[in-house]
Amino acid sequence: MNLVPCSVVSNREITQGNFLLTLKVPRGFSRPQPGQFVHLRITQDVEPLLRRPYSLEGFVERGKLRAARIYYSVVGRGSRLLSQHQPGAKLDVIGPLGVGFSPRPRRLPILVAGGRGVAPLLFLSRSLRDRKRPFVFLFGARSRRELYGVREIRGGRLHVATDDGSVGFEGSVLELLRQEWREGGHTPLTAEIFTCGPHGLLHEVSDFARENGIRCEASLEGPMACAVGACRGCPVPLLPGADSGRYPAMCVEGPVMDATIVDWARLP
Ligand SMILES: Cc1cc2nc3c(=O)[nH]c(=O)nc-3n(C[C@H](O)[C@H](O)[C@H](O)COP(=O)(O)OP(=O)(O)OC[C@H]3O[C@@H](n4cnc5c(N)ncnc54)[C@H](O)[C@@H]3O)c2cc1C
Ligand code: FES
Repeated sequence: MNLVPCSVVSNREITQGNFLLTLKVPRGFSRPQPGQFVHLRITQDVEPLLRRPYSLEGFVERGKLRAARIYYSVVGRGSRLLSQHQPGAKLDVIGPLGVGFSPRPRRLPILVAGGRGVAPLLFLSRSLRDRKRPFVFLFGARSRRELYGVREIRGGRLHVATDDGSVGFEGSVLELLRQEWREGGHTPLTAEIFTCGPHGLLHEVSDFARENGIRCEASLEGPMACAVGACRGCPVPLLPGADSGRYPAMCVEGPVMDATIVDWARLP
């Protein structure tokens, strides 16, 4: 377990209710892989007692500054308290944790993001760009205002969908994926999918991947207590035949997992 004291560099509200947190991390925090996460102790008070898991949106090393970034929404008590931390505030963090994305050599990565699920995929796209690997980025959000990070996506081909049609294709990012697959000349041997977003979208994307025999990794989200494999509180149900009744722990065998074997209907 890698427990490190961190301090807040900035904590800005980007769009209503969505924040970008930059944390200065010490040497003991190893360089994370896209898709890995941290477990944050939000407060020294008793409540909320449990830490909160957050994917990393990015990691920067500039001179002596090493910083991890998190893009989060205010949904409940923990994230509301997190949004009140000012620069200089101390937070204790466990991480980086879990298994990240694993793009295969010589396959075109197709990244499918829904809403704030874009965070770990932005991290992945920057790492692909650094390695000069082409990719396709399909980004769906409710409206133009929720397209966080869209201007940063470089080195790949970007297509955007919004529910209200305020920018790009009007409709679901799943439709963009179907279209890309139909018209892009991809095969399961030449392309693969990486996805993160709301549970319903991940379910649909993984059904599409399974039906077409496409390799597909999804970054899962679910309640976590310890985040280090000790409490058995984050079991991931698998489809019959996938792994004979085994329930992998989302925190140590995920959060990035083979989406085509997850039983999305039974995932809490
Ligand atoms: C591996 C992982 C990575 C994550 N990455 C991010 C991220 O990058 N950005 C981000 O904004 N959130 C992320 N989450 C979700 C984040 O952990 C929850 O939103 C957070 O725990 C909510 O805490 P809270 O105290 O504000 O809400 P609570 O008071 O605990 O809950 C408020 C509401 O949010 C729901 N909720 C709580 N936890 C989750 C959860 N894990 N997933 C979905 N709904 C939840 C509850 O059911 C409840 O309805 C991630 C979760 C996991 C497991
Ligand atoms: S949260 Fe404890 S085992 Fe995963």
